[in-house]
Amino acid sequence: MTLEEFRDRIHEHDQLTAREVSSIIDDASLEAVRAKVWSRSIQQSFSKLLGELAPDERKDAGRIFNEFKSRVEELFEHTNAQLSAGKAVSAQNLDLTMPARMRWIGGKHPVTIVVDEIVAIFRELGFTVALGPESETEWYNFIALNFPPDHPAMDLHDTLYLGDNAVLRTHTSPVQVRTLQRHPPPIRILAPGKCFRRDPFDASHAPAFEQIEGLAVDEGISFVDLKATVTTFAQKFFGTTRTRFRPSFFPFTEPSAEMDVECQLCSGSGCSACKGTGWMEILGSGMVHPAVLEAAGIDSERYTGWAFGMGPARIAMLRYGLPDIRLLYDSDVRFLAQVAE
Ligand code: DAH
Repeated sequence: MTLEEFRDRIHEHDQLTAREVSSIIDDASLEAVRAKVWSRSIQQSFSKLLGELAPDERKDAGRIFNEFKSRVEELFEHTNAQLSAGKAVSAQNLDLTMPARMRWIGGKHPVTIVVDEIVAIFRELGFTVALGPESETEWYNFIALNFPPDHPAMDLHDTLYLGDNAVLRTHTSPVQVRTLQRHPPPIRILAPGKCFRRDPFDASHAPAFEQIEGLAVDEGISFVDLKATVTTFAQKFFGTTRTRFRPSFFPFTEPSAEMDVECQLCSGSGCSACKGTGWMEILGSGMVHPAVLEAAGIDSERYTGWAFGMGPARIAMLRYGLPDIRLLYDSDVRFLAQVAE
C-alpha cells in the first residue's frame, strides 16, 4: 500500500460517509449509518492499512487518517445535535439557496367574490341576509309569486321537478314569501343562493346558477326607494357608471323594470358583448305585487315593497370581461387562478 493508495481509500470512504450521513432522518438511521461507515472494525481496518505503509510514509498517512477521523466524528456529532434540536432532516440535505416549493393556495371563486361584495354593499344600506331552501314547493316557487297556473316557466322545459309538487327552485324569489311569513315588515333582506333550470349549458346559460334577491317592505315604500337603492348599489359596485331603467314584466311585481348599466367592457360605445347597445342588463325589479304580499299574509293595503333579482355570474362576467359563462363553472383552475382572490 502506497501513501497515494491510502489517500484514495480515505477519499472514497469520505465520499461514502457524506452520502450516507445525508440520508439520516432520525436516531435509528443515524445508528445504522454509523454502523455502516464508522464501526470499530472499519476504524481498525484503517489502522491495519497504516501498518502496511512504508515507515517514512506512515507519519503523513497518520495525519491524513486523524484528520479524516475527526471530520467524520464531527459530522456525526453535528447530525446528532440537529436531530435532538428537532430538525428531522440532516443539514447535509438542506440547500438554503434552493427556491422554495410553491404552496398551492386556494382562492375565492369569482362568483363568490361578487356575491360577497354585493352583500357587503347592501349590508351598509341596512339589509340583512335571508336564506331559503334550494328544493321548493310549486306554491312558493310559482303560485305565491302570482304566476298564472299555465305560465310557461312552470313547464317541464324550464323547471326541474323533484316530484309532483317539489321543484328545484328556479329563482330566489320564493325567499321573499318565506321571509315575509316569518318576519312582519319592516324588512330589508338580501337572499343569495343557487337556482336551477332545465337550460342548455352554453355561453350564456348554466343549469345551476346563483341569484341574489333583494326585498324591502314597509309602510309608504315607493318606486323611488327602489330606484335610489339599486342605483346607489351600481355606483358602489362598478364605480361611477351610468344606469337606466327599462319597463319590463314579472308576475310578482307591478310595475316592473330592468336596470342596465353602461357596458363595462366598452364604456358604453358598443361592442359584441353588449350587442352594440352600450348597455348591459344587471337586474330585474319592481314593486311587489299585492297578491304576493297577501299570499305571505301581509296586509297589502298597509304595506308596499319593492324587490329585485340579479345574477352574480353575469355580473362577474361583466366585471372580469368574460365571454362565456362556462368559464365560471368549468372549474379549470388555470382560469380560476387568474381571477381568484
Ligand atoms: N326572479 C326573476 C328571475 O329569475 C328575477 C327577478 C325579477 C326577481 C324581478 C325580482 C324582481 O325580485 O322584482 O328572472
